[in-house]
Amino acid sequence: MSDHIQIERNGAVQIIRMNRPDKKNALTRAMYATMTRAIVDGDADASVRAHVFFGVPGAFSSGNDLQDFMAFATTGNMGSEVFDFLIALAGARKPLLAGVDGLAIGIGTTIHFHCDLTFATPQSYFRTPFVDLGLVPEAGSSLLGPGLMGHQNAFAFLAMGEGLHAVQAKEAGLVYRLVDTEELESTVLSVASEIAAKPPEAMQISRDLLRMPRESVVERITLEAKHFAERLQSEEARGALMAFLTRKKA
Ligand code: COA
Repeated sequence: MSDHIQIERNGAVQIIRMNRPDKKNALTRAMYATMTRAIVDGDADASVRAHVFFGVPGAFSSGNDLQDFMAFATTGNMGSEVFDFLIALAGARKPLLAGVDGLAIGIGTTIHFHCDLTFATPQSYFRTPFVDLGLVPEAGSSLLGPGLMGHQNAFAFLAMGEGLHAVQAKEAGLVYRLVDTEELESTVLSVASEIAAKPPEAMQISRDLLRMPRESVVERITLEAKHFAERLQSEEARGALMAFLTRKKA
């Protein structure tokens, strides 16, 4: 379990709060494992009717911890925590909501392809620098992205790494509603409670019907993960990771 993830309850809403502000909420293996457990346990608990992801002020998440990526790149040991989290995300049975303030990079962005409602403050910024890091899109985003925003927008976003400011992310369909910073958490929790108050079985079936079939998403996550693991050991990725990790020493 990770102290950098706080699991809270607000009535029938489970809050999964990423809380590693000194690293802008970069996600470690332990953080993924704790979030996976929360989704699985929350889904199994009848008193939980919805999950909500929050970050800290200014940082929803800066993505996977690049130190961890470097460790994978040099040891070849990927561990299963990231993959397990992505499968739990794609397999979640109950509505997923998110409240974003500030940076949403890498998985901090692709998580929203799995969310049913994402709220963001006007200063939020979404970006996936996968290719710049010598990597490939993950979390099923290579399948879900083009479906959501069309091939060309998805190419610019997921392959070229062009960032989206909050208004653009809303136009692209990645964000449901923009909310002022002071009202972010209360708005998300209020809507999550509204969802939680609806008949849960009908809600789950409706949600399932609205989503891309889980099997296709899991299949794509698995294919992406195969390429991702191979790419992590490439010269392109090692060079890009080293450049980030040593940038302040120059
Ligand atoms: N992994 C590990 N550490 C990270 C990180 C990440 N993904 N993102 C930020 N950090 C760390 C920084 O190394 C720094 O640590 P330090 O204070 O010990 O040096 C701290 O968090 C603050 O980051 P900093 O870069 O100083 O803040 P910034 O506001 O100038 O820039 C980012 C923030 C997120 C734009 C920048 O840190 C960044 O580009 N991070 C990498 C994002 C990324 O590529 N994620 C993976 C996507 S697949």
